[in-house]
Amino acid sequence: MGDTTRPPEGDTTRPPEGDTTRPPDPGGLPVLGNVHELASDALGFYERRSAEHGGVVRYDVFGTESYLVTDPEAIGQILVADHDRFVKGEMPREQLGGLLGDGLFLAEGEAWREQRTAIRSAFFRERVAAHGDAMVERARETAASWEDGGVVDLHAAATEYAFAVLAESLLGSDIERERETVRAAAEAITDRFDMRRPTSFLPEWLPTPTNRRYRRRLDALRETIRDLVAERRAAGPPADPGAADDLLGTLVAAAELGALDDELVDNAVTFLFAGHETSALGLTYALYCLADAPEFQARVHAEVASLGADPTPADLRECPTLTAAVDEALRLYPPVHSFFREPTEPVSLGGYRVPAGVVLTLSPWAVHRDGRWWDDPETYRPERWLRETEDGGVVHGDDRPGPATGERPEHAYFPFGGGPRHCVGMRFARQELRLAIGTLLRRVRLEPVTAELSVQASANARPDGPVRVRVHARDEWSSCDPDGPSDTR
Ligand code: HEM
Repeated sequence: MGDTTRPPEGDTTRPPEGDTTRPPDPGGLPVLGNVHELASDALGFYERRSAEHGGVVRYDVFGTESYLVTDPEAIGQILVADHDRFVKGEMPREQLGGLLGDGLFLAEGEAWREQRTAIRSAFFRERVAAHGDAMVERARETAASWEDGGVVDLHAAATEYAFAVLAESLLGSDIERERETVRAAAEAITDRFDMRRPTSFLPEWLPTPTNRRYRRRLDALRETIRDLVAERRAAGPPADPGAADDLLGTLVAAAELGALDDELVDNAVTFLFAGHETSALGLTYALYCLADAPEFQARVHAEVASLGADPTPADLRECPTLTAAVDEALRLYPPVHSFFREPTEPVSLGGYRVPAGVVLTLSPWAVHRDGRWWDDPETYRPERWLRETEDGGVVHGDDRPGPATGERPEHAYFPFGGGPRHCVGMRFARQELRLAIGTLLRRVRLEPVTAELSVQASANARPDGPVRVRVHARDEWSSCDPDGPSDTR
């Protein structure tokens, strides 16, 4: 450790001596603070506070001072430039510790580094590409279960799809038989973190009925996962973590080599949850947005239909329209609406002094809807991610100037976080969403039935109710056998 009492020369991220400028205080009630505003509409609260008070603003939850950070430069400082001065901190651990234990999502420092290194290989490009077949096959099954002219709930369908993909490619299909245990735990988690309930801001150990149910169902889930891990270990691990064909194999192999042993169950649970609901939500929002944007849906269909077969991971580079459809849905409806950090020492953020240990809330939701960085921010406009080339084609590229600044800062878009702790499953998720949408839209056209999407804040940004669309089989599919027309390549 170096001398932490004297800022190095030229370091602008530490507060100058005597700098006591505090971020604006948006006001709140005694004791409750801003809990009532968060409970009535947390996502709107973040958006309004950011728009009214700028990129760093204070708020208060039952006497705990928190700062909402929506200034892209400050976000870059926290996640990338100065990442080693910030930890995830007490708050996420208090909230999620019972679920995720000491797995990758909550681990800190050296323990985190060791785990991330051991797990990384499961997300190398070739390993993720090898899961492409499962992602496409499950999407074919989903399409086959839909009736021409019928109405489906996209959220239910996407949840089932994402679970099946994760089960097969990361944890081994054995988890499929435990679907009900996982579903019950997922429901208890959603209730526990439903921000419309003021009690969701209280610690897990308080014996409220919601917390008791949460505890019971988590215990059942962890027991199930423990059995699954034990079975896999008994079957004998692959010799080398890099040679395993699913994530559980990588974790078990690493444990046999002495790394990650204690955290094996924690990590299996971590991946089940970090990788299941988030992807399901991304898929729900992307499909609904496309249903609601028929012209762009037709462009995506034309792009995937021209492939002559269901998309493969290698095809995705040639699918700028499909990619833009997904990137724009993750902008407008980022499944992880916010996440947390704590500075380990006093820092200067956006020109304000921030004491050590304060809860910082980083909100993709608020930043992605900020008119300083995005034209027409509340509208789904995937074209903003596309650029025309001189020869009349389109490519994916986000180098358009932002409306007010001349250029959009890098961290005005961060659905997967950023820096060393960015989402380890990002490549997996972006591939999964595009392969699922490409495979589905080759077979069906979607039309919205739910008139307006309403989203609530729980641990993730979830739809308020079913997300209904009507399914129309494409002509070339409705007249053919369930497998559709034969591939033309
Ligand atoms: C659209 C889908 C997804 C979104 C929007 C998303 C978003 C995020 C975000 C914002 C973070 C950073 C949190 C922070 O810095 O505090 C994160 C971390 C993480 N994500 Fe994802 N994620 C998605 C899919 C997945 C998938 C498919 C997996 C695994 C298969 C996964 C596993 C993880 C893990 C383990 C971490 C913690 C990484 C670390 O701390 O080193 N995520 N994710």
